[in-house]
Parts: sequence; structure tokens; C-alpha cells
Amino acid sequence: KKIMIINGPNLNLLGVREKNIYGSQDFESFFEVLKQKYSTVHLSYFQSNHEGEIIDKIHEIGFSYDGVVLNAGAYTHTSIAIGDAIAGVTTPVVEVHISNVHQREIFRHHSYLAQNCVGVICGFGLNSYTLGIESFL
Ligand code: DQA
Repeated sequence: KKIMIINGPNLNLLGVREKNIYGSQDFESFFEVLKQKYSTVHLSYFQSNHEGEIIDKIHEIGFSYDGVVLNAGAYTHTSIAIGDAIAGVTTPVVEVHISNVHQREIFRHHSYLAQNCVGVICGFGLNSYTLGIESFL
């Protein structure tokens, strides 16, 4: 199976920024753990702070991969364009969040992506990504 994790803006700062919310582990080291755990899966990872680059990546892999685990960061709450990209491809996408967005500010409660995703996982820390991967296996 081919699964890609896509991280959006500010998630390159995981382990450094707002540790009380997002924890102290950086994503690169977590991704190494995931690759070992799912050694039989073709697992890849892409991060961008740019909305258009996230859309380009969804188009690039969205007709050949078996699943995308997407944490679009704050674009979740603003981007009709990423929502449309998800709708336009055939690869199923699971929306994930590290924090429980529903315990936080009201503006984090709405997602422009969720209606085009197979499901949403939030609030389990980095384990949200693991659960997202599991959903495709
Ligand atoms: C986040 C939640 C978003 O509201 C926020 O903008 C992020 C991270 C999460 O993983 O909890 O950047 O997607």
C-alpha cells in the first residue's frame, strides 16, 4: 500500500513551538518510528507552509496512492481550495489533528476539508497520524 502523510503550515516546527499543545517530539523523528512500525507499507511524508504546494501534492499523488493522512494545520479552517483538491482526486483522504480542535477556539471547530474526507481524527497527539494510517490498512 502507498500512503502519504501531508503536513501543512507550521507543522515543521513540531517539537519546538507551543509544546503544551503539540508536544515535544519533532515530526522527522516520529516519522522514522512510523516507517519502522509500518515497514511493509510504502509510507512517505511531505510538508509545506504553502497552500498551493499542498494542492499540487494532492493532485500529484491523488490518483495513484491508496491513502493520504492530511494535517492541513490552519488551512483546515480557511481553505476551500484544499477542500476542492481533495474532492477532485480519487485517493481517499483522512483529516488528522494533533490537538482536539473542538476543545479550542471556535474558529478551529469548522473544517473546509472534512466533508470531502473519509473521516476525521483529532486530539490523540501524534498518535492521530498512527490512527489515520491504520484506517487505510
Ligand atoms: C492542528 C490544529 C489547527 O487548528 C492548527 O492551526 C494547527 C495544528 C493540529 O494538528 O492540532 O496548525 O491542525
